[in-house]
Amino acid sequence: MDIKEQLDLLRKKIHHHNHAYYVLDQPQIPDYDYDLLFKELLELEQQYPELRHDNSPSARVGAKTNTVFDEVHHAVAMLSLNNVFEESEAREFDRRIRRLTGVEEVEYTVEPKIDGLAVSLVYDNGELSLASTRGDGQVGENITDNVRTIRSIPLRLTVSSPPALLELRGEVYMSKKGFEKLNQAQKESGGKTYMNPRNAAAGSLRQLDPAVTSSRPLDAMFYTIARIEGDFSLRSQHDQILALAKFGFKTAPDIHLVRGIEQCLKIRTELLDKRDQLAYDIDGIVYKVNEHELQETLGFVARAPRWAIAHKFPAQERTTIVNAIDVQIGRTGAVSPVARLKPVEVGGVMVSNATLHNQDEIKRLDVRVGDTVVVRRAGDVIPEVVSVNLQKRPVGSEEYVFPSKCPDCSSPIVRIEGTAVHRCSGTLACSAQLKRAIEYFASRGAMDIEGLGTRIVDMLVDKELIANVADLYDLTAENLKNLKSIKEKSAQNLLESIDKSRQPTLQKFLIAMGIPNVGETTADQLAERFGDLESIEKATVEDLESIRDVGPVVAKSVFDFFQDESNRKVIDKLIENGVEIQKVELKILPESDSWAAGKKFVLTGTLQSMTRQEARDRLQKLGGAIASSVSKTVDFVIVGDKPGSKKAMAENLGVKILTEEKFRECLESGKPPDSL
Ligand code: IVH
Repeated sequence: MDIKEQLDLLRKKIHHHNHAYYVLDQPQIPDYDYDLLFKELLELEQQYPELRHDNSPSARVGAKTNTVFDEVHHAVAMLSLNNVFEESEAREFDRRIRRLTGVEEVEYTVEPKIDGLAVSLVYDNGELSLASTRGDGQVGENITDNVRTIRSIPLRLTVSSPPALLELRGEVYMSKKGFEKLNQAQKESGGKTYMNPRNAAAGSLRQLDPAVTSSRPLDAMFYTIARIEGDFSLRSQHDQILALAKFGFKTAPDIHLVRGIEQCLKIRTELLDKRDQLAYDIDGIVYKVNEHELQETLGFVARAPRWAIAHKFPAQERTTIVNAIDVQIGRTGAVSPVARLKPVEVGGVMVSNATLHNQDEIKRLDVRVGDTVVVRRAGDVIPEVVSVNLQKRPVGSEEYVFPSKCPDCSSPIVRIEGTAVHRCSGTLACSAQLKRAIEYFASRGAMDIEGLGTRIVDMLVDKELIANVADLYDLTAENLKNLKSIKEKSAQNLLESIDKSRQPTLQKFLIAMGIPNVGETTADQLAERFGDLESIEKATVEDLESIRDVGPVVAKSVFDFFQDESNRKVIDKLIENGVEIQKVELKILPESDSWAAGKKFVLTGTLQSMTRQEARDRLQKLGGAIASSVSKTVDFVIVGDKPGSKKAMAENLGVKILTEEKFRECLESGKPPDSL
């Protein structure tokens, strides 16, 4: 085999694995093997520059540098779609089609409308030869070098006898995850951040240096064949989609072929519900008459086909005005700046507040009262301000000054070192922190006191009816009478649900205390391990650390919490007021005199005589604790076959190592390893 054949074969292999990985999502070889093939290719091409090829997989790294983009005249115009928003308008579209064609029940494809930017690709004899943007529909820009870097776009068609000419249309986009990652990296390096995934895709595709494009997480899906030479018997939109997949392109996974508009609407509703779970943004659904013959009968009006329509989703981004900028103080004192907005509907929900995240973000956006801003809301995430329209900034507007004092208690606001977070230093002397702590205490995952929401908590604290969570259990009907906006019935209900919360489980009680760094899982583990509150209060930092997954930071946090005088007082008063914390029956009664009792173990490698789970269970039965990582507080690292870096770590730290054999001996004899 000569060098040229060798190169061809290598390229073919890489193209193949590329398709499996980027288009089908089904890699056939490990990444490492792929990297080796790729390296071999680069080396050969370097050695034989005369054998380089524009569509070699090596073009993916973005070699050439452009100075400007050349014009491309589209052989077939790139059209747009008419939009509708209401179901009634979609039905009207269908009625018109039935009237014009005389067909009673029209067959449609239903396709997600990917929110990216349109591209046109030309393949000559199966080789990518031209890629362009839409431009004005007639003339676009040549972005071939950049498009070559998009891994899911085949540089060569994946069929043995490709058409002499193929022109196709699709959408280049960035996944939501890719977008978040890119923005994070840009923020850290002080580079430009993007407003949304579409914006990021556009910015990444229009880079003059293809190497930059290559580093961006771009992807592409294709939906139409504009020109094809040769008979591929494509008689419908659906045939085209299938052909595109066969040629090696990614097509949308949610394409349906249905009859009648009602089916279209049903699929749209389903997709609208799934919208937030999708990996990429879609801004609507496209309905297309499936049969080409019918499409031809229908033709075009102006610049859009009569045979297709985009049924748009409610926008996830809207423009509105900032009426004010406030800061909110959370339960732990964290300061969250919030933009108060002129209410606007975003993604189907009325929004009047949007987060500004932190001081750095406000600086970056330079958002000011009176500004016109873009607000974005996607799924369950809190609406956020993504950009400011400087053109619309009112004259005389002033830069926002981040407060240096808590608006609630006037204590200094300090920045937590090494983070972008500010905190009010007032702790529970700050009534804002106190209110949020009480609300948290009452929340569903904690004491679950129904009816004790933000408004009531604020009122109770403001009227000085309660000064801590224990005071809740002192409240009487008489107290609540003075609160004019609470009706007698709901006051009664509130007192009842407070009363009902008097017997919390230990886990829920621990959560309710709001101990820093203690969430549901840790609370659960503390409860399971210690069984009652007194034991936790008495536990040393070492005792706490012996729990699986509890590291030094959490252990100290718990320890400090119970050392604090005021915390102890509140707990005492809760108990005095009739709160009875339920004990947990300890499942594993540690044999406190066993060789493993009170010792901390780490397991690594494969054990021959038992599974890791068995080893773990047996150790726990003996009163041992299992840690997931090696530190100085670990007593023994049990090492099986093919141990990972944990063994080296143990050796470095001087932690004792137990072979499986020795470990078995201990289990069998019940004697500590040192004595064997
Ligand atoms: S069909 C003549 N199908 O939406 C047919 N377009 O508003 C023209 N788009 O420029 C386009 N997904 O950038 C079509 N499944 C899809 C699409 C889609 C996204 C974009 C495309 C087009 C714009 C039209």
